Amino acid sequence: MNNLLQKRILLGITGGIAAYKSADLVRRLREQGAEVRVVMTKNACEFITPLTMQALSGNPVHTGFLDLQSETAMGHIELARWCDVIIVAPASANFIARLACGMADDLLSALCLAADVPLLIAPAMNHQMWLNPATRDNIALLRKRRIGLLGPAEGQQACGEAGPGRMLEPTELVEGVSNIFQTGALAGIRVLVTAGPTREAIDPVRYISNRSSGRMGYAIARAAVEAGAEVTLISGPALQSPPDRVQCLQVTSAAQMHGAVMAAITTTDIFVAAAAVADYRCITVAPQKLKKTDTSIALTLEKTTDILAEVAGLPDPPFTVGFAAETDNLEEHARAKLKAKGLDMIAANLVGEDMGFDQENNALDLYWGENHLSLGQAPKDKLARQLIHKIAEQFHEKHSD
Ligand code: CTP
Repeated sequence: MNNLLQKRILLGITGGIAAYKSADLVRRLREQGAEVRVVMTKNACEFITPLTMQALSGNPVHTGFLDLQSETAMGHIELARWCDVIIVAPASANFIARLACGMADDLLSALCLAADVPLLIAPAMNHQMWLNPATRDNIALLRKRRIGLLGPAEGQQACGEAGPGRMLEPTELVEGVSNIFQTGALAGIRVLVTAGPTREAIDPVRYISNRSSGRMGYAIARAAVEAGAEVTLISGPALQSPPDRVQCLQVTSAAQMHGAVMAAITTTDIFVAAAAVADYRCITVAPQKLKKTDTSIALTLEKTTDILAEVAGLPDPPFTVGFAAETDNLEEHARAKLKAKGLDMIAANLVGEDMGFDQENNALDLYWGENHLSLGQAPKDKLARQLIHKIAEQFHEKHSD
């Protein structure tokens, strides 16, 4: 199974003989579908070459903090925003001490400070160094800061001695990384997601539609599955492939999407309306292809049913989350929709020439009650996971009342 499909993994390598295993780790992470970028400390480059890591990861390797070339390719803050998780393997005693102190004088330590994503470390060092009270204290501090510890294992060490301090094997590290995404926050919860555009026919060959690619909705469906939910995705004509472990229903028009949602809603705990549903359709669809004339023509449109508003207005509605795509006054419009449609939460984003629709990245602002959380600019699948995390938290809070 591709447990790490579309996950962006930043692998930090520090100076230690176990760095040779990091080459295999990159290969195995990529086998699971992950995209990997490697950051190496100066000492790491003494054990394994950046060229090897570049060839295996398929991406330029980042080694310097103040290296103009790599900062232009992808600056350290951009790297921190890009990744979904950071794993430092091997993590030397020196790196662990520097992390505990909050140092930021090289690229890897600065990244660890700047990133707001889970951080995992795989210690590798001589057993006496591991057992030294200084290292024990540093590890205790890192645990308190919720930094994930993978290993170390016990056994024969490169120095010829034996004891705790061996880096875990790459397969075990891959499992540790995968576990980060399987949160269980929505275990057993039924989630219904709409995605993509709809098409409203004008005649047998023409339609009215919009620029939605479906990326956001599909990413939300994937994130919900990872969180343990039972997911149904109702999609308009989108260019995405159906996610694994999701029941996917394809529809074309707003009316079909409405029918499919209402048929599934009684068995839904959380409804996320990410589709860009057409607000209007032609009152009459021409049975034959319309012929051009010398004069202008007019299409008369009628409103489609607002699926989201209808779901939120049900006597016993699921936890209902809507989207608001706006070109201006984001907060004002989003809050107005949250209230008017009676939603539990709304995810708002700005759309325009190069924003929102059909883009890899997006920026979401979440509003619920009087609250606001800005998720900032990030890849859509990363935003989807953050959104699902927030939905799960609010869903459970609502049901604990
Ligand atoms: N939506 C829906 N059914 C429709 C129209 C929209 O379920 N017929 C949902 C979308 O999936 C999205 C939210 O409603 O979650 C968007 O709200 P809407 O008021 O339709 O936004 P706009 O179409 O952008 O409205 P406006 O033109 O007023 O900004």
